[in-house]
Amino acid sequence: MTTYQFPPSFLWGSATAAFQIEGATQEDGRRDSIWDTFCREPGAVFGGHDGTTACDHYHRMPGDVAMMADLGLQAYRFSTSWSRVRPDDAEFNPAGLDFYSRLVDELLGHGITPLVTLYHWDLPAAMPGGWTNRDTAYRFVEYAEKMYETLGDRVDIWTTLNEPWCSSFLSYACGEHAPGHTDRREAVSAAHHLLLAHGLATARLRELAPDATLGITLNQTVADPVDPSSETDCDAARRVDGAFNRVFLDPIFRGAYPADVLEDMAGFGFEDVVRPGDLEVISTPIDLLGVNYYHGDALTGTPSDDYAPTELPNGRLSGSPYVGSEWVQSVPRGLPVTDQGWEIQPEGLTRLLTHLHEEYTGPAGVALYVTENGAAMPDEPDENGFVDDQDRVSFVRDHLVAVHDAIRQGADVRGYFVWSLMDNFEWAWGYEKRFGIVRVDYDTQVRTPKASALFFRDAARDNGVRR
Ligand code: FCB
Repeated sequence: MTTYQFPPSFLWGSATAAFQIEGATQEDGRRDSIWDTFCREPGAVFGGHDGTTACDHYHRMPGDVAMMADLGLQAYRFSTSWSRVRPDDAEFNPAGLDFYSRLVDELLGHGITPLVTLYHWDLPAAMPGGWTNRDTAYRFVEYAEKMYETLGDRVDIWTTLNEPWCSSFLSYACGEHAPGHTDRREAVSAAHHLLLAHGLATARLRELAPDATLGITLNQTVADPVDPSSETDCDAARRVDGAFNRVFLDPIFRGAYPADVLEDMAGFGFEDVVRPGDLEVISTPIDLLGVNYYHGDALTGTPSDDYAPTELPNGRLSGSPYVGSEWVQSVPRGLPVTDQGWEIQPEGLTRLLTHLHEEYTGPAGVALYVTENGAAMPDEPDENGFVDDQDRVSFVRDHLVAVHDAIRQGADVRGYFVWSLMDNFEWAWGYEKRFGIVRVDYDTQVRTPKASALFFRDAARDNGVRR
């Protein structure tokens, strides 16, 4: 047994997102987001599930915060819902603002540090053109300002967007997420406007709060060639690293889209959406980079005969999210997989964090936080609702050790947020996939901490894990 002790100020937290847990989608003035309307499209979401009730967190928030405190969580990453705060992109909604204000008070009252995400995908449905409309970026700034006005006296850590890759390429090119389009030009336009929204909001928040910790959360993969001696496989890995990671990292940290990505995506309209000055705005300095890591990819440029497009939860076939590199294929390596079918690859997280630190965040003096990591597992509750999820315990423990390895190798990683505090609405998979360290019985809304929650409580208490 080795003990992996983390640096003294390391932050142990859990993460959720508004649409995935709140419910109350038509209450107290909230109006439709693009996820509400997407859920109504026949076949868009597994089982026709939607966010109407979710974990009923909107009504159970004080109890949920008390539960976090019982679990010894030091920090909580949550998102505010633009559709609750500014329904239909019209007037700001005092009841919506008040909910987040009460949440922050409740957290602080329990000694839990809030980390706000301003956008976790629930764009007001009334926003014309969604993220393909440049104006949406400017509306985002108004919304960010209002959130700062409401919570800024109590919240120090702000991130603008969660995983813009998902809200652009997965949503507009692949069709798996709302609004479910399969148009590659739209995806490129959405990606640029999301980045613009991030930059504009960061600059504005910096003016309002020079001392706040500001940043963004990106989902990142580790793109490896299946055969490192194959030129086409190496090129496939380069393309996916470009289309998934660098297309966001480079504008933010280097003020430019990578030349090879622009070449791969030629013909999909970058030149139509990027205006003079945009990249200066997008590269406004940040203080923290949130990293969401679930698994890496082994890529080949020689699709096999049995290659088939991915089947979405609703049975439809997805478009490729790798705009300009549709022939690239991610190949299973025979690693163990989660209930989501995602390969379990903790060492990828070490490589990812050290790489980010060396190439992007370190030179810029930016801190890294793992803002999401976790696993859907085939949970089997006993008669008391307890889930002895040793598979999830191992997953989280192994990834924490991977984070520890990265810190040992010099990466400045300041915290880890397990995804997720509780089972919730897993987007296109509805309630079918369970990621929580706390079990939610959706019939009764009873919450029962799983073995993984007790493991995480001990890890936070000890500021370390043993393996
Ligand atoms: C991430 C999302 C999060 C959750 C996890 C499993 O892509 O940010 O909301 O769905 O995946």
